[in-house]
Amino acid sequence: MADINQLKQEITSFKAQTQEQLEAFRIKYISRKSVIGQLFGQMKDIPNEGKKAFGQQINELKNLAQEKFQELIAQLDHQETTQTADSMDLTLPSAWAPIGSSHPITLIRNEIIDIFAKIGFNVSEGPEIEDDWHNFTALNFPPNHPAREMQDTFFIEKDPDIALRTHTSSVQIRVMENEKPPIRTLSPGRVFRNEAISARAHCIFHQVEGLYVDTNVSFVDLKQTIYYFVKEMFGADTKIRFRPSYFPFTEPSAEIDISCNICGGNGCNVCKYTGWVEIAGSGMVDPNVLKSVNIDPEKYTGFAFGMGMERMAMLKWQINDLRLFTENDVRFLEQFKSL
Ligand code: PHE
Repeated sequence: MADINQLKQEITSFKAQTQEQLEAFRIKYISRKSVIGQLFGQMKDIPNEGKKAFGQQINELKNLAQEKFQELIAQLDHQETTQTADSMDLTLPSAWAPIGSSHPITLIRNEIIDIFAKIGFNVSEGPEIEDDWHNFTALNFPPNHPAREMQDTFFIEKDPDIALRTHTSSVQIRVMENEKPPIRTLSPGRVFRNEAISARAHCIFHQVEGLYVDTNVSFVDLKQTIYYFVKEMFGADTKIRFRPSYFPFTEPSAEIDISCNICGGNGCNVCKYTGWVEIAGSGMVDPNVLKSVNIDPEKYTGFAFGMGMERMAMLKWQINDLRLFTENDVRFLEQFKSL
């Protein structure tokens, strides 16, 4: 009897705020396996003279539970309708579906490809894991050139040497091995160099290599192509200068600077107060390179250039830390949503 009174109290004071609580009530007091169900099961152990009183008590309990259950259902129903009505404004615009954005390197890559596509360059790709021939030897690197050594190159295997490509110039070789001039191609891709990661350097970055091989290609064509590209990319006011340089695979070679578009050429810490920033290496394809891919250097000439995509993106959007490109911080990436 004490148990029954206790249960009555529990049932009367039960509160259900959620569907789960309602279901808990049903399982505990209504279902066949409920405590009340179990009490019915105890009937047979009650001495005859007490059976009637006990039966009455548990029937009462059962009715109480059922009434309470209906009451809880009604309450919850009411609560849900009023809550919905209070918290929902059907005139509000719907919530934005979260959408991603292209990575700035992807945006820059596409823009560079689009600019060169207008003057007839196609896109070629090559493997990131390269052999010595395509990354170095066919590009006229002397056997003891320092760039082959461990501090610059990530070697995977020695003798024969297999490495992560240190530049996309390797793709030039692959294209020239497989195609006859005229060749006008752009090779974008990831490159790898054994360098400590900082705001200005990274061991993984992206390059675009350009190659044009045909009869009568001269340094003038290289200059004109670069002028066209830079003005499309950074605006018509951008100044360009060529500085003599050295690469094993081009002769003559030049580095290309543009007027710093952050300070407008007045001098800032990005251009180290010179007003100029370097954007590319370039030059006329060395006759030895053409020979190594069986293109006759007496008949054909070519120019090549190579530039860093990260550098382009940094100049274009005034990004001051190279590490941002690989950290995938959404606060950084989100800023390119509208582009
Ligand atoms: N491959 C050179 C580099 O990685 C860039 C370059 C490409 C220079 C083509 C000249 C011609 O620095």
